[in-house]
Amino acid sequence: MIWLTGNKGMLGTELSLLLKAKNLSFVGTDRDVDILDAVALENFADGKGITTIINCAAYTAVDKAEDEEALALRLNAEGPGNIARLGAHIGARVIHVSTDYVFSGNGTKPCLESDPVSPTGAYGRTKAEGERRVFSAAPDSIIIRTAWLYGKHGPNFVATMIKLMAAKDEIGVVADQRGSPTWAYDLSCAIADIAVRPDFPAGIYHYTGDGETTWYDFAQEIQRLGRVHGLLDHDCRVRPLSTDQYPTKTRRPAYSVLSKDKIKSQGIPIPHWEFSLQAFFQKDLYL
Ligand SMILES: NC(=O)c1ccc[n+]([C@@H]2O[C@H](COP(=O)([O-])OP(=O)(O)OC[C@H]3O[C@@H](n4cnc5c(N)ncnc54)[C@H](OP(=O)(O)O)[C@@H]3O)[C@@H](O)[C@H]2O)c1
Repeated sequence: MIWLTGNKGMLGTELSLLLKAKNLSFVGTDRDVDILDAVALENFADGKGITTIINCAAYTAVDKAEDEEALALRLNAEGPGNIARLGAHIGARVIHVSTDYVFSGNGTKPCLESDPVSPTGAYGRTKAEGERRVFSAAPDSIIIRTAWLYGKHGPNFVATMIKLMAAKDEIGVVADQRGSPTWAYDLSCAIADIAVRPDFPAGIYHYTGDGETTWYDFAQEIQRLGRVHGLLDHDCRVRPLSTDQYPTKTRRPAYSVLSKDKIKSQGIPIPHWEFSLQAFFQKDLYL
């Protein structure tokens, strides 16, 4: 039996739907079973024959984390630590989701799983500590780092762009940050594949869409598809901005491309981000 925590978040909702579609036996919880409450976790697991715990619960407000790092640390490190301890106790394998923000983003080559973490903001620090606590309590866990996640069931860069482009004649989008957009559905497929493979080697894996782009080029492609699918009836000028022209509380990584060779070598397919964006428009935006 799979237990999915954080099943009401963007990734958790997508994964719930997929596990259901695949007829996999699972139970899902969100705030109803607080990951900070070790006793509640243990009570929930009791008697259910849990063999895998997939943790999608997290504190994900990147900028807000600068003002409430203690709370973010509890949710992103103490909670995952509780889950990993329980997993080790009941013999369930833990699959935990992490982020590119554990890296500084100052590099020029795709980050490897073996690269040392070097977070520059509060959110990244708390997620890096979560990774450490998961492995310390349950060394046979699997941690999947992802980035630039979008999907139907949460705040979503694609939907935001469509809304802005429909309402305005010109918008500014950052053009000097590079990364790889990741459709929550694709990541869910990867996690579901891993969940049904008990022999999948423990360790850290990177998973994002294949290829790389900038937010600016991502926005341009969203506009193109929005026009093709009749969601936009006029051209909106997209103005390239530098990071300095679009300040945020947490400085965003300039280069957050993750190497996916390790997960690919385990037979997990990774669609190109442009292909997935087209599929997202066809599948999700019309539902
Ligand atoms: N979104 C991205 O761009 C992105 C990029 C890289 C990595 N990630 C990682 O991917 C994972 C999933 O992200 P997401 O965007 O799906 O996150 P999300 O939408 O914020 O979902 C997280 C879920 O966890 C729940 N939760 C919070 N505190 C909890 C607690 N104490 N006990 C139980 N549940 C709790 C949240 O409830 P509330 O909504 O009530 O707080 C929410 O339903 C996270 O680990 C995140 O760090 C995300």
